[in-house]
Amino acid sequence: MGPPGAGKGTQAQFIASHLSIPKISTGDIFRANVSGGTELGRKAKEFMDRGDLVPDEVTIAMVRDRLAEDDARDGFLLDGFPRNVPQAETLKKILDEFGVRLDIVLELVVDEDEVVRRLSGRRTCTKCGKIWHVDFDDKKDDICDDCGGQLFQRDDDKEEVVRHRLEVYQEQTAPIVRFYGDEGILARIDAAGPVDEVTARALSALRPSE
Ligand code: AP5
Ligand code: ZN
Repeated sequence: MGPPGAGKGTQAQFIASHLSIPKISTGDIFRANVSGGTELGRKAKEFMDRGDLVPDEVTIAMVRDRLAEDDARDGFLLDGFPRNVPQAETLKKILDEFGVRLDIVLELVVDEDEVVRRLSGRRTCTKCGKIWHVDFDDKKDDICDDCGGQLFQRDDDKEEVVRHRLEVYQEQTAPIVRFYGDEGILARIDAAGPVDEVTARALSALRPSE
């Protein structure tokens, strides 16, 4: 969990590969469907472009299908889900049905100025999905150093949309951070500073449940 630009996707790619579990990112799945021109993508796009949440019935059905896939059987990392109280409550029911539970919820804590700085320089690889930053990764061209793919800037990283996404986070998502705090499975991680330092903090919070 964490506001837009906190580094959830960045940390999720390292943590999921460290634990050899799939990273299940609702934002990534929606974006793949938008660029693939699917029915799901068509439904999600107008909400994403405004910075609003995609309706729960669409999102929850998509996550349920993804969690039922074989590669999620031995664990998974959720990125960007759940994002409001109904999604958190439904996730609990789905996991009960599957006979699994959440080990830990990581909250990435970072201030708003830093979030805006991170989002305004973000570039994502069209081919492998890797997340880069023009300044922090010193990117002079729009080519992925890992796979040679073309990098792109997300449509929802425009300033007014970012501002709205931050409001949506405070109104709808912050309450479920408290919900997981009450359940005793929340770990707050200082997400300021270099990526590898944040990863080290996140991995040490995970260690008891590894
Ligand atoms: P989603 O894709 O989930 O976006 P988000 O939550 O707004 O988060 P971001 O992806 O913007 O940020 P991040 O925290 O992953 O940061 P990143 O690692 O990229 O959702 C997009 C939209 O999809 C939503 O608005 C909604 O419409 C829809 N949606 C998704 N899930 C939904 C759900 N459950 N229900 C309903 N609708 C849903 O990092 C940002 C930048 O900073 C990068 O350039 C990175 O390189 C850089 N960076 C990261 N860490 C550091 C660091 N430590 N130091 C310096 N730079 C860093
Ligand atoms: Zn790439």
